[in-house]
Amino acid sequence: MSLYAIGDLHLSFGSDKPMDVFGGGWNNYIEKIKDGFSHLCAEDVCVLCGDTSWGISLEESLEDFKFLNQLPGRKIILKGNHDYWWATAAKLKAFFEGNGIDNIDILHNNCFVYRGAAVCGTRGWLMDGEADAEQNGKIMAREVSRLRTSLESADDSLEKLCFFHYPPRFKNMVCQDIIAMMNEHRVKNCWYGHIHGYGHRFAVQGEVEGIFYKMISADFVNFIPQKIM
Ligand SMILES: [Fe+2]
Ligand SMILES: [Fe+2]
Repeated sequence: MSLYAIGDLHLSFGSDKPMDVFGGGWNNYIEKIKDGFSHLCAEDVCVLCGDTSWGISLEESLEDFKFLNQLPGRKIILKGNHDYWWATAAKLKAFFEGNGIDNIDILHNNCFVYRGAAVCGTRGWLMDGEADAEQNGKIMAREVSRLRTSLESADDSLEKLCFFHYPPRFKNMVCQDIIAMMNEHRVKNCWYGHIHGYGHRFAVQGEVEGIFYKMISADFVNFIPQKIM
């Protein structure tokens, strides 16, 4: 029984946005995902760090969820910036139940306990200039609050692992409030996705000030879920 993580599967069975058009590592990416997951067994758990489906509604994403559901292992999903299908946890749960999706859980203002560790996280935010300073501040505050809720939902005795869609550090950008929240809860390891292609070279990986950062965007890890514990 092991814990894995991967981000950015960008599935598009129900929408017309196959990632193969980007070429390079994305060629035959569905086959690569199947191969990558074939190493997991039913008792394993895999955290999916956002940008899971291109669908813009739950209905449009259904085929993607069905695809995920038949891959081995339980999946814990968190929201990415392209997950427009995302809805309230109650609505997602009901949709999954109504459609026979029985091995996908939602990480949103909560946590999951796994072998003495707590799987915590939130989408996060990247101060990349797309929004103005006031908007950036509001979005960041909301994400920090979600991270706090997730971390506080875990028992103090558990080691806390953090999963994000956006990197807490990228190039020279540092999400101080997210990092402060991780420090407050003694988080030592975090994983993130979102960064693709050319951006990979600017990723912050390894230990910085007591926290280990690992980028697990699917195209960066060759579509193989990365073993965590
Ligand atoms: Fe993204
Ligand atoms: Fe992505």
